[in-house]
Amino acid sequence: MTAARLPGFVFRPMRYSRSGFLIIDQRRLPARVERVRLSSAAAVARAIRTLAVRGAPSIGVAAAYGLAVEARRLPDNHLRSGLKRAAELLRDARPTAVNLAWAVERVMAEAQAKTEDGGWRNEDRKRGKRGSGPEDKIAAHALRLGVERAARAIEREETERSLAVSRHGAGLLGSGATVLTICNTGALAAPGLGTALGAVLEARAEGRDVRVFACETRPLLQGARLTIPELLRAGVDATLIADSAAASVMPGVDVVLVGADRVCRNGDFANKVGTLGLAVLARHWHKPFYCCAPASTFDPACACGTDIVIEQRDPDEVRLVQGRRVAPARARVFNPAFDVTPARLVTGFVTDRGVVRPPFRRSIRRMLRQG
Ligand code: MRU
Repeated sequence: MTAARLPGFVFRPMRYSRSGFLIIDQRRLPARVERVRLSSAAAVARAIRTLAVRGAPSIGVAAAYGLAVEARRLPDNHLRSGLKRAAELLRDARPTAVNLAWAVERVMAEAQAKTEDGGWRNEDRKRGKRGSGPEDKIAAHALRLGVERAARAIEREETERSLAVSRHGAGLLGSGATVLTICNTGALAAPGLGTALGAVLEARAEGRDVRVFACETRPLLQGARLTIPELLRAGVDATLIADSAAASVMPGVDVVLVGADRVCRNGDFANKVGTLGLAVLARHWHKPFYCCAPASTFDPACACGTDIVIEQRDPDEVRLVQGRRVAPARARVFNPAFDVTPARLVTGFVTDRGVVRPPFRRSIRRMLRQG
């Protein structure tokens, strides 16, 4: 599939235009597809924190657009300082997915470059417009434009990366293959087709019948609420399982496909809590276990899994199910959003640049150099 020709059943989680930034509020799915307008960096950061928008590549793109809407809102004389504050707010919204910090830094680098050259664009120079510094009107205009362009470029590139990951992943799926997956790694999580789920959608589009077991993914049920609807819309044979049923279905599974929020230099990676359990089960049953992730989810600054900060979330996410209390209010809760799977349990990484296999230190380094 190509970005220009995504079928109608594929969700488009975000839309940015001159008239504003709209997201699908993923907390409302599957009951309703509700689009919400986000008009400030604070609103985007809140949407990221509360998982209205979620999935590593999607939150990177959302944060980039968060800076673009903030740049539009800020007065010229507070543009630079306001953007810096907004960048911090967005970067701190969730700690684990590297795409978030990566996207914010990239947009800010663009903004910085615009500031350093005084905000002079070639077109402005040619027209002979003059500016007296970065806070004057022309400079502010150039800065806003630079931020917006960088955000759009990030969305475009993430979409292309998602489609490439999906194509490489689909290559692993023969007709009749049975896949086990967790969380939601479809188009809602990464613009385009997604990552792990994108491989399934691409294989289906190429005419192969693939069956999927989707873990419901407690506590926030991304598997039940998001993955199952995405698969049903695409006409994929999908079966929802309680997370605790993974061991029961594993003997009949051909391949486990999961996403990632951060992949380290040595191949350890963080993904939705429960992924590690699937990796252990896959090893026990000698099943291939692939992590599907674009290059933007690899963090060369992170040596190994112990360097990854794991987000701890509100205990009430576990005490309550869809707003209904299922455990005493005073129950002590451990609620990490992610866990770390060690590289030795991974068969390979499906990236936009091909499938990367062990030894990972070398193959990941080589893959990242291709960029
Ligand atoms: O807490 P979430 O729903 O943002 O967690 C998402 C995941 O763990 C995904 O597997 C990961 O971000 C990869 S998305 C293509």
